[in-house]
Amino acid sequence: MRKPVIAGNWKMHNTISEALDLVRGVKSQVEGVTDVEIIVSPVYTALASVAAELKGSNINVASQNIFWEEKGAFTGEIAPNMITDAGCTHAIIGHSERRQYFGETDETVNKRVKAALAAGLVPILCVGETLQERDAGNTISVVGTQLKGGLVDISAEDMAKIIVAYEPVWAIGTGKTATPDMAEDVHKQIRSIVAEISDAAIADGTRILYGGSVKPENVDELMAQPDIDGALVGGAALKADSFVRLVKFE
Ligand code: PGA
Repeated sequence: MRKPVIAGNWKMHNTISEALDLVRGVKSQVEGVTDVEIIVSPVYTALASVAAELKGSNINVASQNIFWEEKGAFTGEIAPNMITDAGCTHAIIGHSERRQYFGETDETVNKRVKAALAAGLVPILCVGETLQERDAGNTISVVGTQLKGGLVDISAEDMAKIIVAYEPVWAIGTGKTATPDMAEDVHKQIRSIVAEISDAAIADGTRILYGGSVKPENVDELMAQPDIDGALVGGAALKADSFVRLVKFE
């Protein structure tokens, strides 16, 4: 049984007080939800306050990135143990916006995944193709390369801890969602790639989230797909009511 995950990626939104308002609004409405793993991912400056507000609750906190070194002369970077120190349990890694705007490669994604695991953080490893890549019929090869590249030298034991997020770039923030069938097709193939690089039992237990314009109107049909185990949500996670509706998918 794979426990569904609904994760809110707040991207570069919300000051500390706005973040606290949002998370209080969510917390009060999801009390008692135990069958869904709930995660929020604020900006770095709000992590510690949000994590303190959520201590003892059923909502976990993720960072939107991490660096792979433990400390040192790396101006502007944040180490995994600093993220856990702030109260995080998860780290989003390799989001397409990091790949697109900040030079993230499969190699740096792999370093971050390993550093997250070493610090006891659950990596949420993001993969996904651009529209051009999809139109050229390269979706699976692109996603497969990102997945294998991000998971180089990851043991089966560690693979069992990782969450994968499939986020087609053309569906992120555009209002265009992959149809449930399109998403399911890629999720199924991601699961078989995970089986190839670890084993079938681990692949069977791996949570694969869909991301890209998930909203209250489409969450139910996406979550009804057998290989869609959750959602990584941007825009619709910024309002308490819509995020809570996603957590309470039917
Ligand atoms: P979106 O973003 O839900 O706003 O499309 C998803 C994501 O980038 O994680």
